[in-house]
Amino acid sequence: MTQHPALDQWIDDIKTLCEPDQVVLCDGSPEEYQAMMQALTEAGVAKPLNPEIRPNSYLVRSDPADVARVESRTFICSQHEADAGPTNHWAEPEAMRETLTQLFKGAMRGRTMYVIPFSMGPVGSPIAHIGVEISDSPYVVASMHIMTRVGAPVLEELGHDGRFVPCLHSVGQPLEHNDVSAPWPCNPENLYIAHFPETREIWSFGSGYGGNALLGKKCFALRIASAMARQEGWLAEHMLILKLTNPEGEYRYVAGAFPSACGKTNLAMLVPTIPGWTVETVGDDICWMKFGSDGKLYAINPEAGFFGVAPGTGMDTNPNAMLTLDANCIFTNVGETEDGDVWWEGMTAEPPEKLIDWRGNHWTPESTTPAAHPNARFTVSAAQCPAIAEEWERLEGVPISAILFGGRRGSVVPLVNEASTWEQGTFFGSIVSSEKTAAAAGTIGELRRDPMAMLPFCGYNMADYWQHWINIGQTEGAQLPKIFYVNWFRKNDAGGFIWPGFGENARVLQWIFERCAGRADAIETPIGKLPTLDGLDFSGLDLSEEAIATLLRVDTDGWLSEIPLIESYYETFGDKVPAALRDQLSQLKARLTAAASAVA
Ligand code: OXD
Ligand code: MN
Repeated sequence: MTQHPALDQWIDDIKTLCEPDQVVLCDGSPEEYQAMMQALTEAGVAKPLNPEIRPNSYLVRSDPADVARVESRTFICSQHEADAGPTNHWAEPEAMRETLTQLFKGAMRGRTMYVIPFSMGPVGSPIAHIGVEISDSPYVVASMHIMTRVGAPVLEELGHDGRFVPCLHSVGQPLEHNDVSAPWPCNPENLYIAHFPETREIWSFGSGYGGNALLGKKCFALRIASAMARQEGWLAEHMLILKLTNPEGEYRYVAGAFPSACGKTNLAMLVPTIPGWTVETVGDDICWMKFGSDGKLYAINPEAGFFGVAPGTGMDTNPNAMLTLDANCIFTNVGETEDGDVWWEGMTAEPPEKLIDWRGNHWTPESTTPAAHPNARFTVSAAQCPAIAEEWERLEGVPISAILFGGRRGSVVPLVNEASTWEQGTFFGSIVSSEKTAAAAGTIGELRRDPMAMLPFCGYNMADYWQHWINIGQTEGAQLPKIFYVNWFRKNDAGGFIWPGFGENARVLQWIFERCAGRADAIETPIGKLPTLDGLDFSGLDLSEEAIATLLRVDTDGWLSEIPLIESYYETFGDKVPAALRDQLSQLKARLTAAASAVA
């Protein structure tokens, strides 16, 4: 079937196991995409949208039981449980293989088995890697066309013996005796998303949705790739990549890790409010970084498209995303308007008077359920984004000057804070957290830790991953990016957000840019380097002096009360926590204690 005997053998083995009606090797062509969308339309799961409003676009409604990634059914199957660590679900690899082999036996009966060769990253890039997904879902084929590079050039790059990550997927609903397929077949009772980091394999059964089924994204580009990166000395991260240009035309590239639902896509496509500055997008979700010969970390976006959360996206919050969605999109689980377009909460200030909701029911603004599912998605080619940087597909990647970490913190954490060293930056990354409850100023709500925003995506023990970050920092000749901790979500006593966010975040990016250029001052504090009070451009913002002081304050007491929380969090990883991070924690405690007693 291909020129790669090991790939052919695998295809043959899976065909024997899954017993499909036929096997199709995908070529990634526009005709193939149209054929998939046509098949989905005939199956009643996709609906072409009004071509006058949104050409070549479709609305898809999934089964209401299959609407999101399912972390409780996501497994890291390393030989040793300790190598998956306390933040992952572990399963013994041989037992999992046995379970999955039983489930996959005959699982594609009555269906077509698609073989999808794909590249994560521009084909031929030294930072890219290749996978092959076998799937019985035409929705997966069409989505992979948008989200990755699919087809003949990938097989050519693979050659006779190139390495690929085998990614096996089935919706888990075989058709017996001429059964008609459900519009959105799935098998939520038997759901498994299993990763074998040592042998670099992915097996996913029972879901057709997003990260459970488009195996190039979270499964390969984060979980398996993070394990590959550890072995090979690079970084696979849950980060956006943006290009920031100042009014003089100087530019720098910034990567940023933020937990899900912290506005990563918005930041990647931000429209700066400060005159003369521009932000262009390289990626909105995943970043692979390898050292170049000059010792800098070069990054690619391994994806080719955006699989973004639709609700909350509008011309006011993310105009570039909205303009990207003008045509050639797949919308999944959004509302359908009377004129054959789509709508979701936050798309416009005024909702339509009536529409059909994501489940296919009549909906009005008075309805008590949302029009779009909160995890409704758009799938669209990144090339369509008006803010896409011209170098987004550059084979050698782009050199990263700064890495941002951020969570959603109503208290304690200032607007921006620069790590003095790579170790301190790694420490900041390891303690990224969001408040589960809305905290009043000065109190800490219940925290969900999401180190480096990788909690659901690290393919091995999180503490070993921190050690890998420390090791990267010790790479001979490395010209490391600066690391910053940002927090757009600081609240005032009344519980309102102090910082306006969105396009105004460019003011923080400006300070970061100037720090990288060696032009902005910073104050050395117990928690790192903070801007001077006049270091950030607050002009034209309706912020009181008190608000500015809160944003840039070192909350010594707040940080001191956070120390035991970090200590007990680290305890969950036992003696695997890198000594360098324990040192960072004890030094932070000592500096804060000294600062508190100096005040007292
Ligand atoms: C995503 C996520 O879907 O981070 O990108 O959850
Ligand atoms: Mn993500």
